[in-house]
Amino acid sequence: MIMPVDSAQSHRQYPVPASSFCALIKRNSFVFQLASIVAIGALASPAQSLSQAQTNSPSAISLPTELRVQSPGWWPTKGDASRDAYAGAAACAKCHGSTAVTQRTTAMAHAATRTADAELLHQHDDLAFHLGPYTEEIVTKSEKSVLMVRKGAATLSADLLWAFGVGHMGQTYIYQRNGSFYESHLSFYASSQSMGITPEHGLSIPDNLEDAAGRRLTPAETRRCFGCHTTASVTKDQFDPSAADLGVGCEACHGPGATHAAAMRSGMQEEGVAMIMNPSRLDPVGSVDFCGACHRTWEDVVGNGFTGIGVYNVRFAPYRLENSKCWGKGDVRLTCVACHDPHRPLERDPAAYDSHCLQCHVTQAGEKKNASHPGGACRVGTKSCTTCHMPRIETPIQHSIFTDHWIRIVVPGKPYPN
Ligand code: HEC
Ligand code: HEC
Ligand code: HEC
Ligand code: HEC
Ligand code: HEC
Ligand code: HEC
Ligand code: HEC
Repeated sequence: MIMPVDSAQSHRQYPVPASSFCALIKRNSFVFQLASIVAIGALASPAQSLSQAQTNSPSAISLPTELRVQSPGWWPTKGDASRDAYAGAAACAKCHGSTAVTQRTTAMAHAATRTADAELLHQHDDLAFHLGPYTEEIVTKSEKSVLMVRKGAATLSADLLWAFGVGHMGQTYIYQRNGSFYESHLSFYASSQSMGITPEHGLSIPDNLEDAAGRRLTPAETRRCFGCHTTASVTKDQFDPSAADLGVGCEACHGPGATHAAAMRSGMQEEGVAMIMNPSRLDPVGSVDFCGACHRTWEDVVGNGFTGIGVYNVRFAPYRLENSKCWGKGDVRLTCVACHDPHRPLERDPAAYDSHCLQCHVTQAGEKKNASHPGGACRVGTKSCTTCHMPRIETPIQHSIFTDHWIRIVVPGKPYPN
């Protein structure tokens, strides 16, 4: 069962609107403790601590990612394994060739790159922006991208090291100064094909050159940022971005796979299969929570007070989807992987999603719902269902357009449900 929104709402903390590309998670201790009580018994059973992977959460309630990560067994963003436990994507490709070929072309695989490999920066090798008295410029020459900020005669420059986001919505840059990591004050926006202020940085004129260049990330923020956008940046609980595989690779989702690969190489098929997580064995809520390790689970969103913040929560697909009438108490026909193959690029043809809707909805007006088809028929449309029932919503400030996963009848003029 999913906790009703209201019980958590009375305890929520209102965050600054979650306008960032990646609004950070604050923990609401009440919801967290409550979920802990439910979950300790569910996840920490000895049988599961022996196996490599978490499988089911029999309670079937959405859990906070922090709790999943602290429980025994693999879960995305977990960082307790050693570097040697990871085989690297090239090793997986040797045996899972066709999966590896398509996975490499996904947005997730390019969720972070070194700036030297950031196509966007090479396509736009001189980006400039004026911000009050400041002039900002990102110049890319061969392997190097440099951020320069000028105000009168004063200048500050920094070598940009990493580009975050493939750029379907936007791309933000990370650099280092005096041992700290910084997030660039400006991001590249796909909608305008130009620079704009990074979400959450505020629209006011920065006080000094430092602030005009970027925002210092706390060590915890840096770690989380790389945790969702790269593979194995944290091993043995130590953060080392230089050792990470950039982007979301096989082992970011399936967990460290060196023992699996070794077992398979020596023909120990049965043992080998047990050494790697296959998320297809998760129950529907667990499956959505799995993607929610980075996309934020329903409970992450509620626990952090990201409900009731208007359209800013549209990016949290698990939360939106599980609020749909279609979701009910959870159904494998409506998990994230029912519609999205994580090993293939996002399908952009709306008609391709119809078969998923019609696994549950009857098609003829007047046709009775039944056990296998619990959803009624539409009186308005017979194809491209998502174009009407999963509207595209533009979020202010970052001008990004997300697909609302809260499947519903959209009535013009009726407010966005949070
Ligand atoms: C030496 C060959 C080999 C290598 C290397 C290898 N695998 Fe496998 N893997 C297999 C075989 C064989 C199977 C069983 C058949 C199948 O499901 O394709 C398998 C199964 C799997 C499964 C499904 C397990 C299940 O419970 O059904 C996953 C997930 C997987 N591999 C991921 C990976 C990842 C990630 C890597 C890289 C870290 C990797 N494999 C490296 C051969 C290999
Ligand atoms: C380790 C973190 C992580 C996990 C786990 C994860 N994602 Fe993602 N996902 C990301 C990041 C980061 C992006 C943004 C990539 C970009 O555009 O740069 C993303 C983007 C996407 C996109 C958008 C693709 C596009 O073309 O714009 C889809 C769809 C998606 N993820 C589906 C899934 C599904 C389904 C699952 C669960 C099977 C999942 N993700 C699990 C991190 C993750
Ligand atoms: C909890 C996991 C998580 C954390 C932490 C996180 N991200 Fe993301 N990020 C995602 C996911 C999932 C997406 C894709 C869906 C979305 O846009 O919300 C994404 C999308 C993005 C995008 C837009 C991608 C595109 O295709 O245009 C940028 C830029 C980005 N993140 C930068 C960052 C930076 C910089 C940090 C750290 C300061 C960070 N993220 C921290 C999970 C995360
Ligand atoms: C974003 C997360 C994500 C990434 C990245 C990812 N996988 Fe998977 N993988 C999944 C999920 C989720 C499933 C279960 C899919 C389902 O239930 O339909 C899966 C299933 C599999 C299976 C089992 C297929 C089956 O039919 O049972 C194999 C093998 C596999 N993945 C290999 C890989 C390899 C190799 C890579 C890297 C090239 C990779 N995966 C990258 C999430 C991911
Ligand atoms: C797992 C089964 C399932 C899937 C898959 C599914 N639905 Fe539903 N849907 C239902 C059920 C059950 C209801 C509630 C009973 C009803 O009103 O028909 C529902 C209700 C609806 C409603 C009415 C919502 C409201 O607020 O009154 C719409 C619209 C809808 N679904 C559209 C879709 C579309 C479009 C898709 C595909 C993108 C889809 N559904 C996929 C099961 C499903
Ligand atoms: C009923 C089918 C369906 C399900 C289930 C579903 N999605 Fe989607 N998703 C879509 C459609 C349709 C799009 C828009 C594709 C396009 O851009 O044309 C989309 C787009 C996305 C994007 C790209 C950004 C955006 O908002 O347009 C992300 C990220 C994403 N989905 C993540 C998820 C995650 C995570 C889950 C599980 C909670 C999930 N989706 C479940 C149909 C689905
Ligand atoms: C052109 C836009 C459009 C398309 C395409 C469309 N719908 Fe609808 N749908 C609507 C509207 C508008 C309503 C509300 C109509 C009403 O109140 O009678 C609706 C109602 C529904 C309902 C609620 C029915 C009821 O009586 O409660 C369901 C379920 C539904 N649609 C499913 C689907 C599915 C599945 C598809 C694809 C096969 C689809 N829709 C395609 C616009 C559309």
